[in-house]
Amino acid sequence: MRDSKRHRATHLKVALFCLTAMLQAASCGQGINELNNESKGLKDYYQNYFPVGVAVAPSHLNPSAPERNLIIREFNSLTAENVMKPGLIHPEENRYFWDNADIIINFAGEHGMKVRGHTLVWHQQTAPWMFRNSDGTEVSKELLLSRLKEHITQVVTRYKGKVYAWDVVNEAIDDSEGKMYRESPWYRICGEEYIEKAFIWAHEADPQALLFYNDYNTENPAKRDKIYNMLKGLLDKGIPVHGIGLQGHWSVSSPSEKELRDAIEKYSSLGLQVQITELDVSVYGWNEDFSKRKPGDDAFTAEREQRQIEQYKMLFRVFRDYKGIITGVTFWNVSDKHSWLDNFPVRNRKNYPLLFDQNLQRKKAYYEVINF
Ligand code: GLA
Repeated sequence: MRDSKRHRATHLKVALFCLTAMLQAASCGQGINELNNESKGLKDYYQNYFPVGVAVAPSHLNPSAPERNLIIREFNSLTAENVMKPGLIHPEENRYFWDNADIIINFAGEHGMKVRGHTLVWHQQTAPWMFRNSDGTEVSKELLLSRLKEHITQVVTRYKGKVYAWDVVNEAIDDSEGKMYRESPWYRICGEEYIEKAFIWAHEADPQALLFYNDYNTENPAKRDKIYNMLKGLLDKGIPVHGIGLQGHWSVSSPSEKELRDAIEKYSSLGLQVQITELDVSVYGWNEDFSKRKPGDDAFTAEREQRQIEQYKMLFRVFRDYKGIITGVTFWNVSDKHSWLDNFPVRNRKNYPLLFDQNLQRKKAYYEVINF
């Protein structure tokens, strides 16, 4: 009798425990099993919000690459980390190199993923021939614009209908206060005209593609206002610009929620789509002094982990709040195994900016991002 009573009490306790767990899980929006679901990925949790993408190298897509399955499971949009940049896809005046870009485009097609094209005009990773005559002197504005037109027309036409959105111009605005345009060869030789021409020619080559201006520090109020003014000027002239890419190279200490919201509000007031095109969250502040660092100072400490969790939670809460305006979120690199931030702005300082750890496992921040 006493035994069967204890038995009943145990049953009751177990039932109560299950009920509590179920209620807790239900109030979080995802069931407990959902949170460990290996067949669902970020793209599925966010299917009612926006595509979730990742920047990749062709080698990540090899059948033997450990990243490949993770990419298929988690993402539904791809960006080429490097291989579609002008210097790589158009290394010499009369030579295009398509093979690596084609690998990414074909993989996306086979797996029903979108592709963001990155990027048509940039001051970095552009081959030197673009700005030089055969005798080594600098090209005229006329010649540079005709080369630009040729480049854009060839690349956009090749991937017409396969690339749904292009970062047409990358990082044209200057960071210093009071200075509007970056003093790049593009600007020095052509003035600001190259920007509008790039959008016009991209639109001519693929009228269906969404065309973006892409930049970093887009939440910094001074730079934000310069970008806004440039975009407003372009739109007032009827130039086909459809969106702004916030690169999203952020950190545990910036941007603040207010800076991010203000920026999204301001850009979208122009009727533009907003995409986060290169998301990562450095565990270091941008101005942290690492000059006297000791071995181990770049460990992923519990404190860094916690601050990163808080930042990722905030970011995705804001992204969800702007459903319909934010039309894509892309991570820059797959996992903490490799990030460009391992060498920038400090060389050989390990960083941990993504949602997957160095063994490609989901980090705690991942579960916070899908828990809504
Ligand atoms: C910029 C570019 C990217 C990439 C990152 C750093 O944000 O837009 O293509 O080069 O820098 O890796």
